[in-house]
Amino acid sequence: MAVNEISLAVKLLRANNVVALPTETVYGLAASIKSEVALRKIFQIKGRPLLDPLIVHLLDYNWVGEYSYIDGLRVNVKVLADAFWPGPLTIILQKKPVIPTIVTAGSDFVALRCPAHEIFRKVLKSINVPLAAPSANPFGCLSPTTAKHVQDSLGDKIPLIIDGGLCSVGVESTILDVTSDMPRILRPGAISASDIAQILKIPVLDYSPSISSATAPGQLKQHYAPNTRLILAETAEDLSSLVKNASPSQITGKAAFVYLKRPHDFYHINDIFWLSNKGDYFEAARSLFDMLQNLDRAGYDVIYCQKAEQKGVGIAINDRLTRAAAKFAN
Ligand code: TXA
Ligand code: MG
Repeated sequence: MAVNEISLAVKLLRANNVVALPTETVYGLAASIKSEVALRKIFQIKGRPLLDPLIVHLLDYNWVGEYSYIDGLRVNVKVLADAFWPGPLTIILQKKPVIPTIVTAGSDFVALRCPAHEIFRKVLKSINVPLAAPSANPFGCLSPTTAKHVQDSLGDKIPLIIDGGLCSVGVESTILDVTSDMPRILRPGAISASDIAQILKIPVLDYSPSISSATAPGQLKQHYAPNTRLILAETAEDLSSLVKNASPSQITGKAAFVYLKRPHDFYHINDIFWLSNKGDYFEAARSLFDMLQNLDRAGYDVIYCQKAEQKGVGIAINDRLTRAAAKFAN
């Protein structure tokens, strides 16, 4: 990474612009929380409703107290930060007035996280101001896990995209609400409820798709969607029977089939893909958006994708897949 890219990013951010930066989860479209103009640009460029709050990115735990209230909570935020930051955990806390209301969509609560990617951290360190950043994709579309994904979808609207390679986690951060008595997952990610419970030594309410949109604004049923029709298969066996029946009478047009793990049969067929060789869910999460982005541009009429088992990061994979397939459900 060129040093001058970091200083260019800081220069642009200070001059009321947005920049796309890699994080370990997905690429983010960043703006300084001190620039209302740049914050507005995020919503315009993404086509995102102002009701959908943004995550604020900090360099480390030492910044937390300046932007949120951490005393009197059942959860010790420092314990969480020591265990999971920098990394893919976002913590919801009561905001201090210094956080502009456009960032939180008018709410008293703010989502905070310390990203782990070296490039994002260098920009934060140099600018010394928190950066609000949603995923750098048009609203409702597939999330970007490479600089090319950002370039292909928003390249003409962003003055700088820094290339930090493929994101190592590949799905967005786990969002944890610690403002009520029992900590609760609002969005599943690579860090699971049991990972957090183990550290906090208290129960953590796992993610449930039925949480109301009032407590998890922006968690829309339809999201992350490709243009190509996406249909989910519950198991590898279900997907294999679709492969076997893939005749024009049953499947109109050209189909791609995505397994979680390299299948024993079929792997020599051109239109068969897999998210991980050995079925490792972390590897599958890393490949998920990249695979869907690539297949979406490959001229298929339909993509069939196997769901994960509902455990660990499989919960996050299934959450993204279910939302991505929702618009094709009927
Ligand atoms: O991994 C990530 O979290 C990535 C990278 C760039 O950091 N960011 C990301 O941002 O996924 P975005 O905007 O695509 O999703 C943020 C979601 C919102 O849609 C909303 O559900 C939740 O975070 N959120 C943000 N602020 C919140 C708040 N104050 N209360 C509850 N949920 C909030
Ligand atoms: Mg997003």
